[in-house]
Amino acid sequence: KVDWKLKAHPVIKRGTPFLLCVLDGWGENREDDYNAIFKASIPTIKALKNGAPARWRTIKAHGTAVGLPSDQDMGNSEVGHNAMGAGKVIEQGAGLVDTALRSGKLYKDKGFAYIKQAWFNAPGTQHFIGLVSDGGVHSRYDQLAALMKGCFEQGCKKIRVHGLTDGRDCAEGSSIKFFTEMEKDLEALRKKGCDARVASGGGRMFVTMDRYEADWKIVERGWHAHVLGEAPHKFQNAVEAITTIRKNDPDTNDQYLPPFVIVDKSGAPVGPIVDGDAVVIFNFRADRVAQLSKAFEYEDFKKFDRKRYPKVKFAGMMQYDGDLKLPKNYLVSPPLIERTSGVYLVKNGVRTFACSETQKFGHVTFFWNGNRSGKLDEKLETYLEIVSDTCPFNEKPKMKADQIAKAAKEAILSGKYDFIRVNLANGDMVGHTGDFGSVLVACEAVDKGVKLMLDAIKQVGGIYMVTADHGNADDMAQRNKKGEALKDEEGNAIPLTSHTLAPVPCAIGGPGLPANIKFRSDLPNAGLANVTATFMNLLGFEAPADYEPTLLKWT
Ligand code: 3PG
Ligand code: CO
Repeated sequence: KVDWKLKAHPVIKRGTPFLLCVLDGWGENREDDYNAIFKASIPTIKALKNGAPARWRTIKAHGTAVGLPSDQDMGNSEVGHNAMGAGKVIEQGAGLVDTALRSGKLYKDKGFAYIKQAWFNAPGTQHFIGLVSDGGVHSRYDQLAALMKGCFEQGCKKIRVHGLTDGRDCAEGSSIKFFTEMEKDLEALRKKGCDARVASGGGRMFVTMDRYEADWKIVERGWHAHVLGEAPHKFQNAVEAITTIRKNDPDTNDQYLPPFVIVDKSGAPVGPIVDGDAVVIFNFRADRVAQLSKAFEYEDFKKFDRKRYPKVKFAGMMQYDGDLKLPKNYLVSPPLIERTSGVYLVKNGVRTFACSETQKFGHVTFFWNGNRSGKLDEKLETYLEIVSDTCPFNEKPKMKADQIAKAAKEAILSGKYDFIRVNLANGDMVGHTGDFGSVLVACEAVDKGVKLMLDAIKQVGGIYMVTADHGNADDMAQRNKKGEALKDEEGNAIPLTSHTLAPVPCAIGGPGLPANIKFRSDLPNAGLANVTATFMNLLGFEAPADYEPTLLKWT
Protein backbone atom coordinates (compact mmCIF):
# COMPACT_ATOMS: atom_id res chain seq x y z
CA LYS A 1 0.00 0.00 0.00
CA VAL A 2 1.35 3.42 -0.97
CA ASP A 3 1.82 6.00 1.75
CA TRP A 4 0.78 9.17 -0.09
CA LYS A 5 1.38 11.57 2.77
CA LEU A 6 4.48 13.69 2.16
CA LYS A 7 6.57 14.86 5.11
CA ALA A 8 7.13 18.57 5.55
CA HIS A 9 10.50 19.86 4.41
CA PRO A 10 12.67 20.89 7.40
CA VAL A 11 13.56 24.31 5.99
CA ILE A 12 11.26 25.34 3.15
CA LYS A 13 7.76 26.39 4.10
CA ARG A 14 4.78 24.99 2.32
CA GLY A 15 2.46 27.44 0.57
CA THR A 16 5.10 29.78 -0.83
CA PRO A 17 4.07 30.28 -4.49
CA PHE A 18 6.44 28.25 -6.62
CA LEU A 19 7.07 28.68 -10.34
CA LEU A 20 8.64 25.92 -12.41
CA CYS A 21 9.47 27.17 -15.86
CA VAL A 22 10.62 24.65 -18.49
CA LEU A 23 12.46 26.22 -21.40
CA ASP A 24 11.87 23.74 -24.21
CA GLY A 25 14.92 22.95 -26.33
CA TRP A 26 17.37 25.03 -24.27
CA GLY A 27 20.74 23.40 -23.64
CA GLU A 28 23.98 24.62 -22.12
CA ASN A 29 26.45 24.19 -24.94
CA ARG A 30 29.71 25.45 -26.37
CA GLU A 31 29.67 29.19 -26.77
CA ASP A 32 30.22 29.88 -30.45
CA ASP A 33 28.54 31.53 -33.42
CA TYR A 34 26.04 28.69 -33.88
CA ASN A 35 24.78 28.69 -30.33
CA ALA A 36 21.67 30.87 -30.60
CA ILE A 37 21.24 31.00 -26.82
CA PHE A 38 24.79 32.34 -26.47
CA LYS A 39 24.28 34.84 -29.30
CA ALA A 40 20.83 36.08 -28.31
CA SER A 41 20.17 39.01 -26.04
CA ILE A 42 18.75 37.27 -22.97
CA PRO A 43 19.66 39.35 -19.91
CA THR A 44 17.22 37.69 -17.50
CA ILE A 45 18.33 34.14 -18.20
CA LYS A 46 22.02 35.12 -18.29
CA ALA A 47 21.59 36.76 -14.90
CA LEU A 48 20.40 33.44 -13.47
CA LYS A 49 23.67 31.83 -14.49
CA ASN A 50 25.77 34.66 -13.18
CA GLY A 51 23.74 35.18 -10.03
CA ALA A 52 24.03 33.71 -6.55
CA PRO A 53 26.67 30.97 -6.17
CA ALA A 54 25.45 27.35 -6.08
CA ARG A 55 21.98 28.29 -7.31
CA TRP A 56 22.66 27.50 -10.95
CA ARG A 57 23.96 24.24 -12.38
CA THR A 58 23.54 21.96 -15.36
CA ILE A 59 21.86 18.57 -15.40
CA LYS A 60 21.86 15.72 -17.88
CA ALA A 61 18.94 15.58 -20.29
CA HIS A 62 19.91 12.90 -22.80
CA GLY A 63 20.75 9.22 -23.14
CA THR A 64 20.59 6.81 -20.26
CA ALA A 65 19.97 9.66 -17.78
CA VAL A 66 16.44 9.91 -19.21
CA GLY A 67 15.85 6.22 -19.97
CA LEU A 68 17.04 6.11 -23.58
CA PRO A 69 19.04 3.17 -24.92
CA SER A 70 22.44 4.88 -25.16
CA ASP A 71 24.28 8.09 -24.44
CA GLN A 72 24.37 8.75 -28.18
CA ASP A 73 20.61 9.40 -27.99
CA MET A 74 19.67 13.05 -27.76
CA GLY A 75 17.01 13.98 -25.24
CA ASN A 76 13.47 14.83 -26.19
CA SER A 77 10.39 16.34 -24.64
CA GLU A 78 8.58 13.08 -23.98
CA VAL A 79 11.33 11.45 -21.95
CA GLY A 80 12.36 14.77 -20.40
CA HIS A 81 8.91 15.62 -19.10
CA ASN A 82 8.29 12.02 -18.07
CA ALA A 83 11.46 12.13 -15.97
CA MET A 84 10.71 15.51 -14.39
CA GLY A 85 7.18 14.47 -13.55
CA ALA A 86 8.07 11.03 -12.23
CA GLY A 87 11.33 11.51 -10.30
CA LYS A 88 12.68 8.30 -11.70
CA VAL A 89 14.62 7.11 -14.71
CA ILE A 90 12.25 4.89 -16.61
CA GLU A 91 13.25 2.70 -19.52
CA GLN A 92 11.46 4.36 -22.41
CA GLY A 93 9.70 3.17 -25.58
CA ALA A 94 12.82 3.00 -27.75
CA GLY A 95 14.56 0.55 -25.43
CA LEU A 96 11.43 -1.46 -24.67
CA VAL A 97 10.83 -2.04 -28.39
CA ASP A 98 14.49 -2.97 -28.91
CA THR A 99 14.27 -5.58 -26.18
CA ALA A 100 10.94 -7.00 -27.36
CA LEU A 101 12.28 -7.36 -30.91
CA ARG A 102 15.62 -8.81 -29.87
CA SER A 103 14.17 -11.37 -27.48
CA GLY A 104 11.36 -12.25 -29.89
CA LYS A 105 8.80 -11.62 -27.16
CA LEU A 106 6.97 -9.20 -29.45
CA TYR A 107 6.10 -12.12 -31.75
CA LYS A 108 4.64 -14.13 -28.91
CA ASP A 109 2.43 -11.44 -27.41
CA LYS A 110 -1.22 -10.86 -28.06
CA GLY A 111 -0.85 -7.66 -30.10
CA PHE A 112 1.11 -9.56 -32.70
CA ALA A 113 -1.32 -12.50 -32.67
CA TYR A 114 -4.09 -9.95 -33.30
CA ILE A 115 -2.59 -8.38 -36.43
CA LYS A 116 -1.45 -11.75 -37.73
CA GLN A 117 -5.05 -12.93 -38.03
CA ALA A 118 -5.42 -10.66 -41.06
CA TRP A 119 -2.62 -12.19 -43.12
CA PHE A 120 -4.04 -15.53 -44.17
CA ASN A 121 -7.20 -14.41 -45.95
CA ALA A 122 -7.20 -12.10 -48.96
CA PRO A 123 -6.42 -9.22 -49.12
CA GLY A 124 -4.39 -9.71 -45.92
CA THR A 125 -1.96 -6.86 -46.41
CA GLN A 126 0.16 -5.77 -43.45
CA HIS A 127 0.52 -1.97 -43.48
CA PHE A 128 3.09 -0.02 -41.49
CA ILE A 129 2.69 3.71 -40.91
CA GLY A 130 5.32 5.88 -39.24
CA LEU A 131 8.39 8.05 -39.26
CA VAL A 132 11.30 6.72 -41.31
CA SER A 133 14.61 7.84 -39.80
CA ASP A 134 17.18 6.97 -37.17
CA GLY A 135 16.10 9.87 -34.91
CA GLY A 136 15.06 7.58 -32.06
CA VAL A 137 12.58 10.17 -30.78
CA HIS A 138 9.32 8.85 -32.26
CA SER A 139 10.57 5.74 -34.04
CA ARG A 140 13.66 4.09 -35.48
CA TYR A 141 13.92 2.66 -38.96
CA ASP A 142 16.03 -0.30 -37.81
CA GLN A 143 13.09 -1.36 -35.63
CA LEU A 144 10.72 -1.23 -38.61
CA ALA A 145 13.22 -3.22 -40.71
CA ALA A 146 13.48 -5.90 -38.01
CA LEU A 147 9.71 -5.99 -37.59
CA MET A 148 9.06 -6.40 -41.32
CA LYS A 149 11.57 -9.22 -41.49
CA GLY A 150 9.99 -10.81 -38.43
CA CYS A 151 6.52 -10.56 -39.96
CA PHE A 152 7.73 -12.25 -43.12
CA GLU A 153 9.29 -15.06 -41.11
CA GLN A 154 5.96 -15.47 -39.32
CA GLY A 155 4.11 -15.92 -42.61
CA CYS A 156 3.26 -12.43 -43.82
CA LYS A 157 3.17 -12.34 -47.64
CA LYS A 158 2.27 -8.75 -48.37
CA ILE A 159 3.62 -5.56 -46.77
CA ARG A 160 2.95 -1.90 -47.54
CA VAL A 161 4.83 0.93 -45.86
CA HIS A 162 3.37 4.42 -45.48
CA GLY A 163 6.52 6.31 -44.60
CA LEU A 164 6.85 9.85 -43.27
CA THR A 165 9.98 11.83 -44.02
CA ASP A 166 11.76 13.36 -41.03
CA GLY A 167 14.45 16.06 -41.24
CA ARG A 168 13.53 17.17 -37.70
CA ASP A 169 15.12 14.49 -35.51
CA CYS A 170 17.86 14.01 -38.13
CA ALA A 171 19.47 16.02 -40.92
CA GLU A 172 17.24 17.82 -43.40
CA GLY A 173 17.44 15.97 -46.73
CA SER A 174 18.38 12.65 -45.12
CA SER A 175 14.99 11.17 -46.09
CA ILE A 176 16.49 10.11 -49.41
CA LYS A 177 19.14 8.06 -47.62
CA PHE A 178 16.57 6.41 -45.32
CA PHE A 179 14.09 5.64 -48.09
CA THR A 180 16.91 4.25 -50.28
CA GLU A 181 17.87 1.93 -47.44
CA MET A 182 14.23 0.95 -46.97
CA GLU A 183 13.76 0.28 -50.70
CA LYS A 184 16.75 -2.08 -50.53
CA ASP A 185 15.30 -3.95 -47.58
CA LEU A 186 11.92 -4.21 -49.30
CA GLU A 187 13.59 -5.54 -52.41
CA ALA A 188 15.35 -8.20 -50.34
CA LEU A 189 11.95 -9.21 -48.93
CA ARG A 190 10.47 -9.35 -52.44
CA LYS A 191 13.27 -11.66 -53.55
CA LYS A 192 12.28 -14.00 -50.74
CA GLY A 193 8.66 -14.01 -51.91
CA CYS A 194 7.07 -11.24 -49.84
CA ASP A 195 5.29 -8.60 -51.90
CA ALA A 196 6.73 -5.65 -49.95
CA ARG A 197 6.57 -2.03 -51.15
CA VAL A 198 6.25 1.58 -50.11
CA ALA A 199 2.65 2.70 -50.71
CA SER A 200 2.53 6.36 -49.68
CA GLY A 201 4.32 9.05 -47.77
CA GLY A 202 4.78 12.71 -46.96
CA GLY A 203 6.55 15.08 -44.58
CA ARG A 204 5.90 14.54 -40.90
CA MET A 205 4.89 18.17 -40.19
CA PHE A 206 2.44 18.30 -43.10
CA VAL A 207 1.16 14.76 -43.25
CA THR A 208 -0.19 12.57 -40.42
CA MET A 209 1.97 13.54 -37.41
CA ASP A 210 0.00 16.43 -35.86
CA ARG A 211 -0.08 16.61 -32.08
CA TYR A 212 -2.46 17.81 -29.39
CA GLU A 213 -5.06 18.55 -32.06
CA ALA A 214 -3.13 21.58 -33.31
CA ASP A 215 -4.30 20.99 -36.89
CA TRP A 216 -6.43 17.99 -37.88
CA LYS A 217 -5.87 18.79 -41.57
CA ILE A 218 -2.43 17.26 -41.19
CA VAL A 219 -3.97 13.95 -40.16
CA GLU A 220 -6.62 14.18 -42.86
CA ARG A 221 -3.93 14.51 -45.54
CA GLY A 222 -2.32 11.38 -44.16
CA TRP A 223 -5.62 9.50 -44.17
CA HIS A 224 -6.14 10.40 -47.82
CA ALA A 225 -2.68 9.22 -48.84
CA HIS A 226 -2.32 6.14 -46.64
CA VAL A 227 -5.88 4.82 -46.50
CA LEU A 228 -7.63 6.13 -49.60
CA GLY A 229 -4.54 6.09 -51.83
CA GLU A 230 -5.17 9.68 -52.91
CA ALA A 231 -2.60 12.47 -53.08
CA PRO A 232 -1.66 15.22 -55.53
CA HIS A 233 1.69 13.57 -56.26
CA LYS A 234 1.80 10.11 -57.82
CA PHE A 235 4.99 8.18 -58.52
CA GLN A 236 6.03 4.61 -59.14
CA ASN A 237 8.82 4.69 -56.59
CA ALA A 238 9.28 6.45 -53.25
CA VAL A 239 12.86 7.64 -53.65
CA GLU A 240 11.90 9.08 -57.02
CA ALA A 241 8.86 10.72 -55.40
CA ILE A 242 10.90 12.43 -52.67
CA THR A 243 13.72 13.44 -55.00
CA THR A 244 11.41 14.87 -57.65
CA ILE A 245 9.11 16.73 -55.28
CA ARG A 246 12.11 18.28 -53.54
CA LYS A 247 13.74 19.22 -56.84
CA ASN A 248 10.61 20.81 -58.29
CA ASP A 249 9.89 22.84 -55.19
CA PRO A 250 13.02 24.31 -53.61
CA ASP A 251 10.90 25.66 -50.75
CA THR A 252 9.83 22.25 -49.55
CA ASN A 253 11.87 20.05 -47.23
CA ASP A 254 11.68 16.70 -45.46
CA GLN A 255 9.50 18.01 -42.63
CA TYR A 256 6.93 19.64 -44.92
CA LEU A 257 7.04 17.36 -47.97
CA PRO A 258 3.56 17.18 -49.57
CA PRO A 259 1.83 13.79 -49.53
CA PHE A 260 2.53 11.28 -52.30
CA VAL A 261 1.08 7.95 -53.33
CA ILE A 262 2.89 5.12 -55.13
CA VAL A 263 0.97 3.85 -58.14
CA ASP A 264 1.40 0.96 -60.55
CA LYS A 265 1.82 1.25 -64.30
CA SER A 266 -1.90 1.70 -64.78
CA GLY A 267 -1.92 4.56 -62.26
CA ALA A 268 -3.68 2.63 -59.48
CA PRO A 269 -2.37 3.07 -55.92
CA VAL A 270 -0.32 0.03 -54.85
CA GLY A 271 -1.44 0.00 -51.24
CA PRO A 272 -4.66 1.65 -50.14
CA ILE A 273 -5.88 0.28 -46.82
CA VAL A 274 -8.97 -1.87 -47.25
CA ASP A 275 -11.28 -4.16 -45.26
CA GLY A 276 -9.43 -7.21 -43.99
CA ASP A 277 -5.96 -5.61 -43.82
CA ALA A 278 -3.81 -5.13 -40.74
CA VAL A 279 -2.32 -1.75 -39.81
CA VAL A 280 0.52 -1.06 -37.40
CA ILE A 281 1.78 2.39 -36.48
CA PHE A 282 5.46 1.76 -35.81
CA ASN A 283 6.16 4.95 -33.83
CA PHE A 284 6.65 4.25 -30.14
CA ARG A 285 6.10 7.84 -29.00
CA ALA A 286 2.51 8.85 -28.44
CA ASP A 287 1.93 12.54 -29.04
CA ARG A 288 2.15 12.61 -32.82
CA VAL A 289 0.23 9.42 -33.57
CA ALA A 290 -2.62 9.61 -31.05
CA GLN A 291 -4.86 11.43 -33.53
CA LEU A 292 -4.30 8.98 -36.37
CA SER A 293 -4.92 6.15 -33.90
CA LYS A 294 -8.31 7.66 -33.09
CA ALA A 295 -9.15 7.89 -36.79
CA PHE A 296 -8.46 4.15 -37.15
CA GLU A 297 -9.95 3.03 -33.87
CA TYR A 298 -13.11 5.06 -33.38
CA GLU A 299 -16.18 3.94 -35.30
CA ASP A 300 -17.76 7.26 -34.43
CA PHE A 301 -15.32 9.96 -35.47
CA LYS A 302 -16.04 13.56 -36.47
CA LYS A 303 -12.70 15.34 -36.76
CA PHE A 304 -12.71 15.01 -40.55
CA ASP A 305 -14.61 13.06 -43.16
CA ARG A 306 -12.81 9.73 -43.55
CA LYS A 307 -14.77 9.00 -46.76
CA ARG A 308 -14.09 5.31 -46.30
CA TYR A 309 -13.54 3.59 -42.96
CA PRO A 310 -11.87 0.24 -43.54
CA LYS A 311 -12.39 -2.62 -41.09
CA VAL A 312 -8.83 -3.53 -40.18
CA LYS A 313 -6.83 -5.13 -37.43
CA PHE A 314 -5.24 -1.99 -36.04
CA ALA A 315 -2.38 -1.85 -33.52
CA GLY A 316 0.18 0.63 -32.25
CA MET A 317 3.80 -0.19 -31.63
CA MET A 318 2.79 0.76 -28.08
CA GLN A 319 -0.35 1.77 -26.33
CA TYR A 320 -0.23 5.54 -26.71
CA ASP A 321 -2.70 6.58 -24.03
CA GLY A 322 -3.15 4.48 -20.93
CA ASP A 323 -6.23 6.43 -19.80
CA LEU A 324 -8.08 6.16 -23.09
CA LYS A 325 -6.64 2.67 -23.71
CA LEU A 326 -5.68 3.92 -27.15
CA PRO A 327 -5.17 1.87 -29.15
CA LYS A 328 -6.72 -1.25 -27.69
CA ASN A 329 -4.16 -3.45 -29.43
CA TYR A 330 -0.43 -2.83 -29.35
CA LEU A 331 2.77 -4.79 -29.90
CA VAL A 332 4.85 -3.70 -26.91
CA SER A 333 3.66 -2.62 -23.47
CA PRO A 334 4.45 1.02 -22.72
CA PRO A 335 6.64 2.04 -19.79
CA LEU A 336 4.73 1.93 -16.54
CA ILE A 337 5.08 5.37 -15.01
CA GLU A 338 3.48 5.26 -11.61
CA ARG A 339 3.37 7.31 -8.44
CA THR A 340 4.28 10.46 -10.33
CA SER A 341 4.86 13.70 -8.44
CA GLY A 342 1.51 14.97 -9.68
CA VAL A 343 -0.37 12.21 -7.88
CA TYR A 344 1.53 12.87 -4.64
CA LEU A 345 0.92 16.59 -4.89
CA VAL A 346 -2.85 16.36 -5.37
CA LYS A 347 -3.05 13.88 -2.53
CA ASN A 348 -1.31 16.46 -0.35
CA GLY A 349 -3.61 19.27 -1.41
CA VAL A 350 -1.24 21.20 -3.67
CA ARG A 351 -3.05 23.56 -6.05
CA THR A 352 -1.48 23.50 -9.49
CA PHE A 353 -1.69 25.72 -12.54
CA ALA A 354 -0.12 24.13 -15.64
CA CYS A 355 0.09 26.07 -18.88
CA SER A 356 1.68 25.99 -22.29
CA GLU A 357 0.70 26.54 -25.88
CA THR A 358 -0.84 23.75 -27.93
CA GLN A 359 2.47 22.39 -29.26
CA LYS A 360 3.72 21.73 -25.73
CA PHE A 361 0.47 21.56 -23.80
CA GLY A 362 0.53 17.79 -23.47
CA HIS A 363 4.15 17.96 -22.42
CA VAL A 364 3.35 19.78 -19.15
CA THR A 365 0.21 17.71 -18.58
CA PHE A 366 0.10 14.33 -20.37
CA PHE A 367 3.84 13.53 -20.41
CA TRP A 368 4.32 15.21 -17.03
CA ASN A 369 1.73 12.91 -15.49
CA GLY A 370 3.27 9.73 -16.88
CA ASN A 371 1.26 9.67 -20.14
CA ARG A 372 -2.16 10.18 -18.59
CA SER A 373 -4.51 12.30 -20.61
CA GLY A 374 -6.89 13.65 -17.99
CA LYS A 375 -6.44 15.82 -14.92
CA LEU A 376 -5.38 14.15 -11.70
CA ASP A 377 -7.78 16.27 -9.65
CA GLU A 378 -10.46 18.53 -11.09
CA LYS A 379 -10.63 20.79 -8.04
CA LEU A 380 -6.94 21.29 -7.34
CA GLU A 381 -5.65 21.63 -10.88
CA THR A 382 -6.10 24.15 -13.67
CA TYR A 383 -4.66 23.23 -17.06
CA LEU A 384 -4.59 26.11 -19.53
CA GLU A 385 -3.82 25.66 -23.22
CA ILE A 386 -2.94 28.73 -25.27
CA VAL A 387 -3.70 27.94 -28.90
CA SER A 388 -0.54 27.77 -31.04
CA ASP A 389 -0.18 29.26 -34.49
CA THR A 390 -0.28 26.71 -37.29
CA CYS A 391 2.39 28.24 -39.55
CA PRO A 392 6.03 27.08 -39.60
CA PHE A 393 7.38 28.62 -36.41
CA ASN A 394 10.28 30.55 -37.94
CA GLU A 395 7.55 32.75 -39.43
CA LYS A 396 6.28 33.67 -35.96
CA PRO A 397 9.21 32.91 -33.65
CA LYS A 398 7.78 34.72 -30.65
CA MET A 399 5.09 32.08 -30.61
CA LYS A 400 2.90 32.39 -27.49
CA ALA A 401 5.67 33.09 -24.96
CA ASP A 402 4.15 36.39 -23.94
CA GLN A 403 0.62 35.01 -23.55
CA ILE A 404 1.87 32.04 -21.50
CA ALA A 405 3.97 34.31 -19.28
CA LYS A 406 1.01 36.64 -18.75
CA ALA A 407 -1.26 33.75 -17.83
CA ALA A 408 1.36 32.45 -15.41
CA LYS A 409 1.84 35.90 -13.94
CA GLU A 410 -1.87 36.17 -13.32
CA ALA A 411 -1.89 32.73 -11.72
CA ILE A 412 1.04 33.68 -9.48
CA LEU A 413 -0.56 36.95 -8.38
CA SER A 414 -3.99 35.37 -7.88
CA GLY A 415 -2.93 33.51 -4.77
CA LYS A 416 -4.98 30.56 -5.97
CA TYR A 417 -2.04 28.30 -6.71
CA ASP A 418 0.93 26.78 -4.90
CA PHE A 419 2.57 25.37 -8.00
CA ILE A 420 2.70 27.22 -11.32
CA ARG A 421 4.21 25.09 -14.08
CA VAL A 422 4.80 26.34 -17.62
CA ASN A 423 6.64 25.35 -20.75
CA LEU A 424 7.95 27.95 -23.21
CA ALA A 425 8.17 26.24 -26.58
CA ASN A 426 10.21 28.69 -28.65
CA GLY A 427 13.78 27.38 -28.32
CA ASP A 428 12.61 23.98 -29.46
CA MET A 429 9.93 24.70 -32.05
CA VAL A 430 11.89 27.44 -33.79
CA GLY A 431 15.13 25.51 -33.30
CA HIS A 432 13.63 22.67 -35.36
CA THR A 433 13.27 25.02 -38.35
CA GLY A 434 17.05 25.56 -38.51
CA ASP A 435 16.49 29.28 -39.12
CA PHE A 436 19.16 30.96 -36.99
CA GLY A 437 17.81 34.53 -37.20
CA SER A 438 14.38 33.37 -36.07
CA VAL A 439 15.86 31.33 -33.25
CA LEU A 440 17.50 34.50 -31.89
CA VAL A 441 14.08 36.18 -31.85
CA ALA A 442 12.64 33.05 -30.23
CA CYS A 443 15.22 33.09 -27.42
CA GLU A 444 14.63 36.77 -26.79
CA ALA A 445 10.88 36.20 -26.52
CA VAL A 446 11.56 33.44 -23.99
CA ASP A 447 13.77 35.76 -21.96
CA LYS A 448 11.07 38.44 -21.82
CA GLY A 449 8.52 35.85 -20.75
CA VAL A 450 10.81 34.58 -18.00
CA LYS A 451 11.33 38.14 -16.77
CA LEU A 452 7.60 38.74 -16.53
CA MET A 453 7.11 35.58 -14.47
CA LEU A 454 10.13 36.12 -12.22
CA ASP A 455 8.97 39.66 -11.48
CA ALA A 456 5.62 38.25 -10.39
CA ILE A 457 7.38 35.71 -8.16
CA LYS A 458 9.37 38.54 -6.62
CA GLN A 459 6.18 40.48 -5.99
CA VAL A 460 4.57 37.65 -4.02
CA GLY A 461 7.73 36.55 -2.20
CA GLY A 462 7.79 33.26 -4.08
CA ILE A 463 10.34 30.72 -5.27
CA TYR A 464 11.29 29.78 -8.80
CA MET A 465 13.09 27.08 -10.71
CA VAL A 466 14.02 27.63 -14.35
CA THR A 467 15.20 24.56 -16.23
CA ALA A 468 14.84 22.85 -19.61
CA ASP A 469 13.90 19.46 -21.04
CA HIS A 470 16.67 18.97 -23.65
CA GLY A 471 18.92 20.95 -25.96
CA ASN A 472 18.06 22.42 -29.35
CA ALA A 473 18.66 26.17 -29.85
CA ASP A 474 22.10 25.81 -28.23
CA ASP A 475 23.56 24.36 -31.42
CA MET A 476 22.22 25.29 -34.82
CA ALA A 477 24.98 23.85 -37.06
CA GLN A 478 25.76 20.35 -38.24
CA ARG A 479 29.35 19.48 -37.34
CA ASN A 480 32.17 17.23 -38.48
CA LYS A 481 33.91 14.85 -36.09
CA LYS A 482 36.23 17.62 -34.93
CA GLY A 483 33.23 19.72 -34.01
CA GLU A 484 33.66 22.22 -36.83
CA ALA A 485 30.50 23.53 -38.49
CA LEU A 486 29.78 22.00 -41.90
CA LYS A 487 29.38 24.59 -44.65
CA ASP A 488 27.40 24.59 -47.89
CA GLU A 489 28.79 25.77 -51.26
CA GLU A 490 28.18 29.40 -50.36
CA GLY A 491 30.05 29.04 -47.09
CA ASN A 492 26.95 29.09 -44.86
CA ALA A 493 26.70 26.69 -41.96
CA ILE A 494 24.40 23.73 -42.67
CA PRO A 495 21.59 24.03 -40.13
CA LEU A 496 21.06 21.47 -37.38
CA THR A 497 17.31 21.03 -36.97
CA SER A 498 17.37 18.32 -34.31
CA HIS A 499 17.84 18.35 -30.55
CA THR A 500 21.32 18.26 -29.03
CA LEU A 501 23.04 16.08 -26.46
CA ALA A 502 23.78 19.10 -24.27
CA PRO A 503 22.96 19.20 -20.58
CA VAL A 504 20.41 21.79 -19.53
CA PRO A 505 20.58 24.63 -17.04
CA CYS A 506 18.76 24.54 -13.73
CA ALA A 507 18.42 27.73 -11.70
CA ILE A 508 16.66 28.34 -8.40
CA GLY A 509 15.91 31.47 -6.48
CA GLY A 510 13.28 33.99 -5.45
CA PRO A 511 12.66 35.92 -2.24
CA GLY A 512 10.86 32.95 -0.67
CA LEU A 513 13.90 30.67 -0.94
CA PRO A 514 15.70 30.50 2.41
CA ALA A 515 19.26 31.84 2.21
CA ASN A 516 20.78 28.57 3.39
CA ILE A 517 19.37 26.56 0.47
CA LYS A 518 21.95 25.79 -2.21
CA PHE A 519 22.68 23.15 -4.83
CA ARG A 520 24.73 20.33 -3.39
CA SER A 521 27.99 19.50 -5.13
CA ASP A 522 28.04 15.72 -4.72
CA LEU A 523 25.72 14.91 -7.64
CA PRO A 524 27.71 15.97 -10.70
CA ASN A 525 25.90 13.44 -12.90
CA ALA A 526 22.38 14.35 -11.85
CA GLY A 527 19.75 14.37 -14.57
CA LEU A 528 16.20 15.52 -15.15
CA ALA A 529 14.79 12.90 -12.78
CA ASN A 530 16.58 14.72 -9.93
CA VAL A 531 14.51 17.80 -10.66
CA THR A 532 11.42 16.18 -9.16
CA ALA A 533 12.61 15.74 -5.57
CA THR A 534 14.11 19.21 -5.88
CA PHE A 535 10.86 20.96 -6.75
CA MET A 536 8.92 18.91 -4.23
CA ASN A 537 11.32 20.36 -1.66
CA LEU A 538 10.73 23.83 -3.04
CA LEU A 539 7.00 23.23 -2.56
CA GLY A 540 7.73 22.47 1.09
CA PHE A 541 7.79 18.66 1.06
CA GLU A 542 10.25 15.85 1.38
CA ALA A 543 10.16 13.73 -1.76
CA PRO A 544 9.22 10.03 -1.68
CA ALA A 545 12.20 7.95 -0.62
CA ASP A 546 12.57 6.08 -3.91
CA TYR A 547 12.75 9.21 -6.07
CA GLU A 548 16.13 10.28 -7.45
CA PRO A 549 17.81 12.47 -4.82
CA THR A 550 17.18 16.17 -4.49
CA LEU A 551 19.74 18.60 -5.85
CA LEU A 552 19.40 20.77 -2.76
CA LYS A 553 21.35 21.01 0.44
CA TRP A 554 20.59 23.17 3.41
CA THR A 555 22.83 24.21 6.22
C1 3PG B 1 8.78 16.75 -32.48
O1 3PG B 1 7.91 15.89 -32.33
O2 3PG B 1 8.52 17.94 -32.72
C2 3PG B 1 10.24 16.33 -32.43
O3 3PG B 1 10.39 15.07 -33.02
C3 3PG B 1 10.69 16.23 -31.02
O4 3PG B 1 10.49 17.42 -30.35
P1 3PG B 1 10.06 17.45 -28.83
O5 3PG B 1 10.60 16.21 -28.18
O6 3PG B 1 10.76 18.69 -28.36
O7 3PG B 1 8.59 17.56 -28.77
CO1 CO C 1 11.80 19.27 -30.13
